[in-house]
Amino acid sequence: MSHPLFPSKDQILRYRREFLKFLAASPCLAAVPPLEVLESMFWQNAPSGATVGNDLSSPKDALDVMDFEAAAKKKIPIAHWAYMAGGVDDDYTRDANHEAYRHIYLRPRRLVDATGISMKTELFGTVYDSPIFICPVGEQKAFHPEGELAVARAARAKGTLQILSTLTTTRVEDVARALGTPLWFQLYTLTDWTGTEKMIRRAEAAGCPVLVLTVDNTTGRNPETYQRLRRTDTRNCSMCHEGEPGSTVNGRPMYDGIDMTGLNGRTNPAMDWQYVDKLKKATRMKLLIKGLDTREDAQLCVQHGVDGIIVSNHGGRATETDRATIDALPEVVEAVGNRIPVLVDGGIRRGTDAFKALALGATAVGIGRPYIWGLGAFGQTGVERVLELLQKELHQTMANCGTHTIADIKRDRVGFAKPYF
Ligand code: GLV
Repeated sequence: MSHPLFPSKDQILRYRREFLKFLAASPCLAAVPPLEVLESMFWQNAPSGATVGNDLSSPKDALDVMDFEAAAKKKIPIAHWAYMAGGVDDDYTRDANHEAYRHIYLRPRRLVDATGISMKTELFGTVYDSPIFICPVGEQKAFHPEGELAVARAARAKGTLQILSTLTTTRVEDVARALGTPLWFQLYTLTDWTGTEKMIRRAEAAGCPVLVLTVDNTTGRNPETYQRLRRTDTRNCSMCHEGEPGSTVNGRPMYDGIDMTGLNGRTNPAMDWQYVDKLKKATRMKLLIKGLDTREDAQLCVQHGVDGIIVSNHGGRATETDRATIDALPEVVEAVGNRIPVLVDGGIRRGTDAFKALALGATAVGIGRPYIWGLGAFGQTGVERVLELLQKELHQTMANCGTHTIADIKRDRVGFAKPYF
């Protein structure tokens, strides 16, 4: 559900169809053409992105990453779709993440030689082709049979950092091999330390240099959209589930060799800053915290020797905070003061969105749902096209705004539009 003041593109299209139906059916307007003719007149004037997407026959046909959404929805079982697409409660935070970018404008500088633009971005000693990275998303074989491997191959082709979820459906060793550059591992801790330690050792042995601890959902959540839609999916997907749709997912290889009896795998309510200290001591990997959105917690990260932060609200899937991550980013960046990198995710759908986040101090920007749309629609080539489109858009934005390198994208390249009231 979108905020009433900011209807989503889907809603606008629905309203338009309703209005056209009303016009076509109106007895007073004998001269009104039939619905199909009215529709085609509207489509001719439709904004880019609205005209394609439903019938993508090849990833190359996509003009923007949103085009993959409808294409993927057609192919992915509805319960799996809902698991990924939904937020929590009324989905306001999920939608706010994207919509908040509309209230930030660009301040391009003109007549700057725009040749030789470089998006190269260094993170912990590895240089990537762009600052756009792949966020952890669980259970990727629910969206395409090749799951995390297809994503790794696409990330490799596009010089992109990939973060693998604890809830991966492919072995971390196999994903690391397919990626070819250092794979980061996202950690959901277990209430049982022995099991958690086993996962850490395994990620280390697979060559992961960075551990990303998710902290925004330690007690559970209310994924209403998912729960509603999953009721409409009556198939028993025994490939994925032990019981009815939505029950425990089989085949989470990170739990191999761990006794999961009585463990949820996602929530660990007792986790606190002491736990962070313990984790930091327990691994040689760099430790990043994902899921912070306040200056107070950012300061604590620095005090506890955390190596980096991902400002995130889990794609609006943890708590309905009603605050977009791009609105939280500046206070975290200010609190950290260049001591550790601050990355951000949530709602990035355009190169211009990425540019705005970089201008507000992000070192790199993560995407989640868009690459899953690419994966669900076409597998590896879909993910590649999603990355290619975002990279192309960011490159073009940098060139048109007078910025040659990522470091040139400074705070003065953006401004905040006045609130409406
Ligand atoms: C996993 O991290 C999820 O959001 O479902």
